[in-house]
Amino acid sequence: MTITWIITGAAGFIGSQLALNLARQGQSVHVCDWADSAGCTPVDADPNSTSSRLRAARIDLLQRTPGVHYKPLDISRSGAFADWIADLHPNVVIHLAAQAGVRHSMQAPLDFVAPNLVGFSQVLHACHQHKVERLLYASSSSVYGMRDDAPFLEEDRTDRPQSFYAATKQANEAMAMAYHAQYGLQSLGMRFFTVYGPWGRPDMAPYLFAQAIRRREPITVYANGELLRDFTFVGDTVAAVTALAAPHARWEGATVVNVGHHRPVSVNHFVQTLAMQLNMTPIIEYAPMQKADVQLTCASEVRLLGMIDQWPDTSLQEGLGQFVKWLQVWDPIGMSS
Ligand SMILES: NC(=O)c1ccc[n+]([C@@H]2O[C@H](COP(=O)([O-])OP(=O)(O)OC[C@H]3O[C@@H](n4cnc5c(N)ncnc54)[C@H](O)[C@@H]3O)[C@@H](O)[C@H]2O)c1
Repeated sequence: MTITWIITGAAGFIGSQLALNLARQGQSVHVCDWADSAGCTPVDADPNSTSSRLRAARIDLLQRTPGVHYKPLDISRSGAFADWIADLHPNVVIHLAAQAGVRHSMQAPLDFVAPNLVGFSQVLHACHQHKVERLLYASSSSVYGMRDDAPFLEEDRTDRPQSFYAATKQANEAMAMAYHAQYGLQSLGMRFFTVYGPWGRPDMAPYLFAQAIRRREPITVYANGELLRDFTFVGDTVAAVTALAAPHARWEGATVVNVGHHRPVSVNHFVQTLAMQLNMTPIIEYAPMQKADVQLTCASEVRLLGMIDQWPDTSLQEGLGQFVKWLQVWDPIGMSS
């Protein structure tokens, strides 16, 4: 069966890797992002920022890959997404575009309103209008809020977000449920758990820590490094999303699923494993826990495995090894942060 794929947020970390993976499998993929060819967005208009340079490099890679069709498009602009997909007749939409980042949402919560709430509504409505068979969208482990019991089950309560970012993801899940109740739109909210790996985001700990260690600068580790995170390698995430989007994946209606491994490690362990891969010694400065942070993330994998049977489980050592190899090529002298 020929599938017409749509991916939003394709200049981003996960979206770019997903599009490249599908194209490598011989699929034709239509992708969009609001970043221009210099990687600039309305939220980050500096072409010299590391985030912009990364988005530009990812777009360049996508545009040079046969089977990938890139379109600059702001999903929050009224009707823009619907107009784009009208002629493409997609079976599957994988919606990853969003303003991401818990810390960013502490500093600038209003940056999240257009992409995450207005943009999400536009995507939902377009999928309903154009009778898209399946909508898969990015949610987040942050919807589980502050808790110290594990693992996190999909049916656990998610009504106590610790950040505005988490609140927008929780709202997305409710909005998708409403579109199913009203119009029968099939949707799956994928709760990602701290994704890391090659082409990763420069605002996230793996990138920030690695660059500081390479420059022999101190890294700030919160809460004595005892916070536990269920880190997920990007290749594993991409494999899970691809399997969940396949017609034989076992889910229906409007539902949500954890995409995480049930293998949390402390931030201290993460830093030591990263430093080993860099073959350097980290200088650690401890700081108190931040307001929007949570103690622990730990996915139950049971529902995911019920939907797709299996997915790869890359070890932290192997995943960070691949990340470091990529970083050393992307930034040989370790100066970008
Ligand atoms: N990386 C993680 O650990 C993680 C964890 C949980 C959830 N998520 C979610 O997964 C998705 C992908 O995350 P990522 O790490 O690749 O983030 P990312 O920031 O690298 O990618 C998101 C992309 O969306 C684009 N975008 C934002 N607003 C847009 C708009 N209005 N129109 C079109 N494009 C727009 C951005 O330009 C960016 O390229 C996001 O929804 C994020 O919230 C990520």
